[in-house]
Parts: sequence; C-alpha cells; structure tokens
Amino acid sequence: MISIVNVAKSYGKHKVLQDIHLEVPKGHVYALIGPSGAGKSTLIRAINALESIQQGEIVVDGLQVHHKTTDINKVRANIGFVFQSFNLYPHLTALENVSIAPVKVKKVNREEAEAKAKSLLSSLGLGEKISSYPGQLSGGQQQRVAIARALAMDPKVMLFDEPTSALDPEMVKEVLDAIRHLAATGMTMVVVTHEMGFAKEICNNIVFMAEGKIVEVAPPDQFFSNPQSDRARDFLSKVLEH
Ligand SMILES: Nc1ncnc2c1ncn2[C@@H]1O[C@H](COP(=O)(O)OP(=O)(O)O)[C@@H](O)[C@H]1O
Ligand SMILES: [Mg+2]
Repeated sequence: MISIVNVAKSYGKHKVLQDIHLEVPKGHVYALIGPSGAGKSTLIRAINALESIQQGEIVVDGLQVHHKTTDINKVRANIGFVFQSFNLYPHLTALENVSIAPVKVKKVNREEAEAKAKSLLSSLGLGEKISSYPGQLSGGQQQRVAIARALAMDPKVMLFDEPTSALDPEMVKEVLDAIRHLAATGMTMVVVTHEMGFAKEICNNIVFMAEGKIVEVAPPDQFFSNPQSDRARDFLSKVLEH
C-alpha cells in the first residue's frame, strides 16, 4: 500500500532523511519510533507530500506521491493525517468539522455527509458531542474528532504523527483505543509514537529511526526483546527506564 524507495532529503548539509526504504503492506500497522530529530515527522509528512523529498520515490496505492504530473489532491484523498495538535476548525462544531471536507472536496451531499459524520463520531464515543465546538471539548475528545474527520474521507491509509503527545495522561487511553479499534478494522497505518506498549500491542512492525536513517525494522516481539543495533538498545534502555 505504501512503498518508499531510496528517499533522501537535506536542509543544506544536514541530511534529515537518507537511504530510506520501506514497504507497508495493505492492512498492516507500522510504528515509527526513535529519538527526537531522527526524521520521523519529516518521513511521515513526505508520505502525503506535506514535505518535499530530493531523491527517491514514494508510492501510495499505486500513485507516485512526488511525481510532477501526479495530482496531489488525488493522493491526499486516499490518506488521512492526524497531527499532534488537533488542528480542528475552532468556529465549526464537531459535526461540521467532520462533514466539511466530504461536502467541499468530494461533493457529497450535506445530509449524507452529516449522517456519516454522526455515525463516525458515535463510533468514537462522541455521539453526545456533535454540536460542541472544539473549545468546549477536552484534548482527547478533540483528537477523536480529528480522527473522525480523517475517516470521513474514506482514506485507504491513515498516518498519525504523535497523536497522543499533546494530551494529558488520562486522555491518552481513549485516543489509543480509537486507533487500536481502527487497526482491528484492517486500516493500513503508520503511527509515529512514544507509546511503546501500544506499539508493541498493535503493530506488525516497528521501524526504528535515528539520525535520518532507518536503523531497524522488526516485529515488536523481536525489536523489544532483542534489538539488533546499539542505537536501538540505547534508545530502548532510556525509554523503558523512563
Ligand atoms: N524546515 C526545517 N529546516 C531545517 N531543518 C529542519 C526543518 N524541519 C526539520 N528540520 C530538522 O530535521 C531533523 C528531523 O526533524 P523531524 O523530522 O521533525 O524529527 P522527529 O520527528 O524524529 O523528531 C531535525 O534535526 C530538525 O531540526
Ligand atoms: Mg516529530
């Protein structure tokens, strides 16, 4: 579903991505982990062209994301992206936040879009909050609205960049549960996360990055019990100690 071949990117002399190869099969969930500055956000953002790349190619569901002739809106229609900061429209209700893109971008009729938005919000435990504005919702609720908004476009792939990092601890679980549920439906996903227990539980593979490179790709059991690189061992000892 996602194919990343020989991708590189630099800012001046600083190589933020080097020699990146990664294949994510349909229905699989991959966690991107690694120290701050490793290039995780740059890589995940490059998957839907929020970041440019200088070398290599990224193909999502058969479309070359960074090719000059590719209609980027067509690529993005297939990809849901959930950020650390929820980025909801503050002046729109939860229902409007979730239904606006299908109406404006996909030209779905409003009633249909709102019916779908209601059902998505209910399935995420927000059935009572459809008329609330983002400012009236907790961080965890806002992030679940952001997930519903992404799902309203019927994406083939969901990308998450530290979806729980901006949340108070008691709200982390409700958002992880939503992502867990999504994984169980067979959605193809890449999740940048510091939640190691979560990554271990739901991911097919852990992708460990450091200094702009993919250092290891391994199933969680293997990665957490027997990391192959010094860099990963060092990272895990710090994170797990914490
Ligand atoms: N616009 C930019 N200009 C210069 N350097 C950048 C820019 N964006 C990111 N970087 C650098 O790229 C590296 C990777 O950043 P990032 O992908 O955000 O890492 P991570 O998400 O793993 O913490 C960092 O060293 C960061 O400082
Ligand atoms: Mg980041």
